[in-house]
Order: sequence, then structure tokens, then C-alpha cells
Amino acid sequence: MSWVTTSTPDLWHHYGRVRATRDCAVPGTFYWSWSQDAGPGPEILGELTGRCVGDLGAGAARQAAHLAVHHQPARVIAVDGSPAQHAMATDLYGHLAPCLQIVQSDVVPHLQAMTRAYDVLYSVFGALDFTDPHEVLPAAAAALKPGGRLVYSTLAHYLNGTPAQPDAVAADIPAKTPDGEATTMRRWVLQQHVWIELLDAAGFTSITVDVLPAAVGGQRTADTLLVSAYHPA
Ligand SMILES: C[S@@+](CC[C@H](N)C(=O)[O-])C[C@H]1O[C@@H](n2cnc3c(N)ncnc32)[C@H](O)[C@@H]1O
Repeated sequence: MSWVTTSTPDLWHHYGRVRATRDCAVPGTFYWSWSQDAGPGPEILGELTGRCVGDLGAGAARQAAHLAVHHQPARVIAVDGSPAQHAMATDLYGHLAPCLQIVQSDVVPHLQAMTRAYDVLYSVFGALDFTDPHEVLPAAAAALKPGGRLVYSTLAHYLNGTPAQPDAVAADIPAKTPDGEATTMRRWVLQQHVWIELLDAAGFTSITVDVLPAAVGGQRTADTLLVSAYHPA
């Protein structure tokens, strides 16, 4: 499990970097949609007061900071494998500890080390898009308490409009090294029935998938799949 090592470049080095220089506020809103400006919010996660919540692929931890400040969880653990994203999240929201804990780790070993620890796991276009679902979904199931909930948003199709995959396979998408060199990374963009089959195989129940249509047309807009599932009680 070597998602980021000292010998592999951090392909998330540039993500959110410009925004972090000018916007260090705790967001007042939380959205699942690709456009991040409309649609359902954290109510999809259920009651969070006193709960242990994990963000899988938290990036700069903006959503996790929102939950920590506005929803009274016992704690929110913002997990991200990228050294750059971890540093950015720590700079922006480290002051929200201990309610907000910012952890640098690949989500799979993190979840494997947290058996039955979480009430709620979620991801906003995060690690579930970029990690083999055959690894991360069973790990998430094992990390949830009985009756716990997993919710995530993911692309309903590729950003260029190409339909999602009919099988559980990744595609290589463009990425940049910290030096700006073009490379690729793997992204799982899957049809609804594929996610349902994978979640079912990982032991989840009460699986639902909602489509959140793109708010406006144009290039690089996208429909969102909002996926919700429960660990059996
Ligand atoms: C598109 S960003 C989304 C970040 C954040 N959820 C947001 O909405 O801004 C994807 C994030 O997932 C993280 N990520 C991808 N695969 C991961 C894995 N296996 N373990 C930990 N983090 C991962 C990346 O480092 C990156 O910060």
C-alpha cells in the first residue's frame, strides 16, 4: 500500500493551492455536488452530534472544518494521503483540534487500523474516486460501527462527457507533478449499478444512489452521483 512514498511525486501538490492563499475561513456551507454551490448538504450524513466522523480524502479539510464547527461531532478525522494537502489542511484548520484531527495517511491502512471506530464516513470527490474500490470499500465497512453510514459524492461521467465505466475499472486521467510535468493518475468513474454491486459485495446494505444534475452546462461541469450505504446493524 504505497500510494504516496518518498519516491513517488505528490500529484495533489497543486490542488487548492491558490484558494488556500486567499480563503482561510471555515466554510459556512457543505455541498456534495461537483459545482459546490447547490444541492443537498450535511443533513445526508444524519445526526452528527457526539459522533465520530471520518473524511476520506479530505484535501484542505474544508468540509471537515465545517462539520467540526457547525455540527457538534465528538471528532472529525480528516484523512488525506498527500503531504501537500495535509500541510495545507494543518495550516488552515489545525487550530480546530482536538475536535478536528488532520491525519496524513492513505485511507486504506488508516481504515484497516480503525476497526469499528467510526459512526460516519464520507468523501467529497475524495479517496473513493482515486482508490481501488475492492480495497477501500471493505476497509470502510470494517471501520464503521454497526449501523454506521458511508456517504460519498463521485463523478456520474468523465469531465469530457464520456460515460462512466460499466465495470469496476479505473481510467488514467491527466495530472501534474509538483514540478509541473504532465503525468496521469487513476480515477474510478463508475456507473451507478457498479457502485451498488461493489458496496453490496463489501457488506453494505440500504444502498442508494442519487444523481445531482450539473447546475449549469458547459465544459468541465458534471453530474454527481451521491451514494449512501449502511454497515449492517
Ligand atoms: C479531488 S481532491 C478532493 C479533496 C476534498 N474532498 C475536496 O472536496 O476538496 C481528492 C483528494 O483525495 C486524496 N486521496 C486520493 N486517494 C487517496 C487515498 N487512497 N488515501 C488518502 N487520500 C487520498 C487526494 O490526496 C486529494 O487530496
